[in-house]
Amino acid sequence: MIVNLEAPPRRTGTRPATTGREIPHDQLDQFSPPEIRAALVAEAEALPGVFTGPSQVSEPSSLALRLHRPDGPWEAFLHPSRDEFGHIHRAGFLHLTVPLPLVPALIENGWAERHPISLRPEWPDTIVMLYAPRDQDELAVATAVLRAAGHRQFHQRREVRSDMRALAFDDFGATPALTELAVPEAAAGEVLVQVTASSVNGFDLGSVGGFLKGVYDYEFPVVVGKDFAGKVAAVGDGVTDLAVGDAVFGVVMRPTLGQGGFAEYVAVPASYGVARIPDGLDEIRAGALGLAGTAALNAVDAVAPAAGETVLISGATGGVGAFAVQFAAARGATVIATAEPGAEAAFVTALGADHTVGRDEVAAAVRELAKDGVHAAVHLAGDGATVSGLVADGGRFASTIHFAPDDADARGLKTTAIMSDPSPETLARLAGDVVAGRLRVPVARRYALAEAGQAISDFMAGTLGKFAVTV
Ligand SMILES: NC(=O)c1ccc[n+]([C@@H]2O[C@H](COP(=O)([O-])OP(=O)(O)OC[C@H]3O[C@@H](n4cnc5c(N)ncnc54)[C@H](OP(=O)(O)O)[C@@H]3O)[C@@H](O)[C@H]2O)c1
Repeated sequence: MIVNLEAPPRRTGTRPATTGREIPHDQLDQFSPPEIRAALVAEAEALPGVFTGPSQVSEPSSLALRLHRPDGPWEAFLHPSRDEFGHIHRAGFLHLTVPLPLVPALIENGWAERHPISLRPEWPDTIVMLYAPRDQDELAVATAVLRAAGHRQFHQRREVRSDMRALAFDDFGATPALTELAVPEAAAGEVLVQVTASSVNGFDLGSVGGFLKGVYDYEFPVVVGKDFAGKVAAVGDGVTDLAVGDAVFGVVMRPTLGQGGFAEYVAVPASYGVARIPDGLDEIRAGALGLAGTAALNAVDAVAPAAGETVLISGATGGVGAFAVQFAAARGATVIATAEPGAEAAFVTALGADHTVGRDEVAAAVRELAKDGVHAAVHLAGDGATVSGLVADGGRFASTIHFAPDDADARGLKTTAIMSDPSPETLARLAGDVVAGRLRVPVARRYALAEAGQAISDFMAGTLGKFAVTV
């Protein structure tokens, strides 16, 4: 029987019971009769250029299929670049890397299912579970798939660079420089994002300046950048909510400082710090939204200004401040923003500030506007004691820079130290606000990745809104 794998016959009967989430070895409840499995094994052993032996990936009773002669210890890896390109399980099913174009028709016609970990865009093939052939007709299909998988040409590596450009620094005190680094891999529970945009945050100055020593382990070379936007390029083991090609953005939430958003690729946890980019939000704005938007939303929610209340935002001209002004104004509060006369004042006023006060006259100017003090203050920059001192007794104060007023208890202040929490829900809310026109992402300047070092220097010299980096 000649089988056309582009349009295979339909497999009849029920599909084996598999979980669809993991290699479903023992969940399979359909087996090959011994003579059918033996014929399949004989077919595999006869394939030109294919070496067989006990599997290192599956249980040893599975027959491994390899394109390379064993010349040392095997890695347990189901891919022709490393070890096995497939194996025949003792039950008769094949766990196989097959050419991508064959996969949809095999799945649609009931012969196979795709393994969720196998979506690796750098390879022109993918790993499927081909169900155990139960009779001669099914053996013909399995044999045809096996032959296709055994063709070396299908397993040539696609032309992708294994290196990427990144802005990184390799020691404390070193200046970040454009560097070639290995493209990271998506570990279990992670997605690899091909980054198209990021932005500068106050956090980056802390990272580059070495001020986060003791808070985070620095794994040099450390790539700069907390924000990212781009497309999922690969998914790690166990990731089911995101798929290759999804447009995503968020905050790099890794336990150490090492990978960052100022790079062509970054691997991030799939379930925290990442959300899909909805229609209507471009990647530049998405790349400038994550950390600053989250910090601003968390801070304004913490002080929860009610309509008609007065809120002071100290540091209103920066990235977090620009979002915080908008969130406070959207609640109907009267917003007093720190800004110098001229461009700064015009900037925060356009975002919804009702009053502006210069940074060197905050205390006097705020007292003039609210002689009994403001109901709430969001502290992003400036002297914490001065800012908290302007809150009326019993009011609310939130700081993103870890200032806690000594007299909070005596004055009945509710204080919050903000640790940004970029949950998928928060990121989705931010993106939704932008798409709905409720939130502006004030991108003041754009830099290419090659100029990202300059973006950091300029940010240190003074910020007005967000500085975007395009990759
Ligand atoms: N805890 C967290 O989870 C978290 C999250 C995000 C951010 N943060 C922190 O929050 C702060 C703000 O972040 P960001 O990204 O918005 O930084 P940013 O863009 O540098 O914003 C700070 C702004 O405050 C202004 N400023 C400086 N000194 C001031 C003063 N004395 N009075 C009033 N305004 C002053 C700055 O103006 P010039 O640049 O012109 O001086 C700048 O526009 C940073 O320290 C950052 O590390 C913390």
